[in-house]
Amino acid sequence: MSRFIVSGGNKLSGSATVQGAKNSILPVLSAALLCEGENVLFNCPRLSDVSAAARILRYLGCEVKREGSAVLVNSESVNGAEIPDSLMREMRGSIIFLGSLLGRRKKAVLTFPGGCELGPRPIDLHLKALKSLGVKIRESRGAIECTAPDGLKGAKIALSFPSVGATENIILAAVTAQGTTTLTNAAREPEIADLCEMLNKAGARIYGAGEGVVVIDGVKSLKAVEHTVIPDRIVAATIMSAAAVTGSELMLEGVIQSHLNAVTSVFEDSGCDIKFDCGNLLIKAPERLKPLPVVRTMPYPGFPTDAQAVMMSAACAADGASVFVENIFEDRFKHVSELTRMGADIKVENRVAVVNGVKKLYGAEVRARDLRGAAALVTAALAAEGETTIDGICYLDRGYEDFELVLGSLGADIKRI
Ligand code: UD1
Repeated sequence: MSRFIVSGGNKLSGSATVQGAKNSILPVLSAALLCEGENVLFNCPRLSDVSAAARILRYLGCEVKREGSAVLVNSESVNGAEIPDSLMREMRGSIIFLGSLLGRRKKAVLTFPGGCELGPRPIDLHLKALKSLGVKIRESRGAIECTAPDGLKGAKIALSFPSVGATENIILAAVTAQGTTTLTNAAREPEIADLCEMLNKAGARIYGAGEGVVVIDGVKSLKAVEHTVIPDRIVAATIMSAAAVTGSELMLEGVIQSHLNAVTSVFEDSGCDIKFDCGNLLIKAPERLKPLPVVRTMPYPGFPTDAQAVMMSAACAADGASVFVENIFEDRFKHVSELTRMGADIKVENRVAVVNGVKKLYGAEVRARDLRGAAALVTAALAAEGETTIDGICYLDRGYEDFELVLGSLGADIKRI
């Protein structure tokens, strides 16, 4: 079990390249099941979730290997349709293999991704939509058996909530279905547009990717592709938060400005100066942030729930009170009790957190209990006086590649033990 030891108080400087997006590479790896042959996926971050996805692909009969920052997936000889519970439990995103398995094998047998660190994460929207596509579903004691013996058939589907995972599973199932699928109230996250770009290169006919209405004309089969995954907007937000909390000036290389609008406007309103230039972002933070405008998490293009925790660590030392409203997940304030150990003043009532900025945070022993909460503890520790020990770094490793090395190169005093 890894932990981080952070000695806070250093100013940060220099530049960091933003890694490929975790939430893009996972559905893209799943899509490789549908794209028969050797797929070459560039800008693939080294994350434990990526390793978990690779184990699922190998179990299903793919060859998977890494060459530098690229991952090669040969899906020529896929022969499995079942994902064992042990692999399903390794990563909650494993449900994303459902749609592509159905497309490739007309069958998928897996288990529920399980209870969750962010509150319940049901998959009712995924299953209801797949039924509309002609999939027969049997559920028994945590296992789900999905079959489409006569193949999948295009349908009109309206989501009651723009779920990211459900949108991806529907697209993955529909690309090789017979006929046309029209999906309304689809999630509009950039990672979905990235998945569709990859699928379209492979021969899919998807129109309106990244918009609320997506139309998919089913095709017979897909060919292998080369694809470069988009930069991770949540990692970018985390590094911006590190700059904001330490009053530093940092350059982030390889970002997409439009993906960051909701996040940059909060940093700007709290006194940061942000400039974009040819895929680079320069953030210059004041010595002390002004209170943040109300942060309400929303589906994209609203403020991302995944950036709520790191934004809160920036608010902890701001000069005044900031309010956070978590609208996406029921239980996404687990970092609050740990930030409080570091001297933060935060009150939570249901889905609302009020953060009264304090003059100083102090080093403490804290424990991460989810991925983004772990990142928030690390950023808070950068600003804290004294030494912070952060347990539960396995969560951070799910989504941040070599995070201690990135922060160390910017001048942070951080080590993994
Ligand atoms: C994805 C992201 C995750 C991000 C989240 C919201 C990946 C691998 N993960 O997760 O980082 O925090 O989007 O932006 O891309 N819901 C239902 N029924 C369903 C599906 C979802 O009620 O069938 C609810 C969930 O409980 C949750 C909300 O919808 O409250 C959002 O979930 P969803 O958009 O599906 O998130 P994920 O795809 O799990």
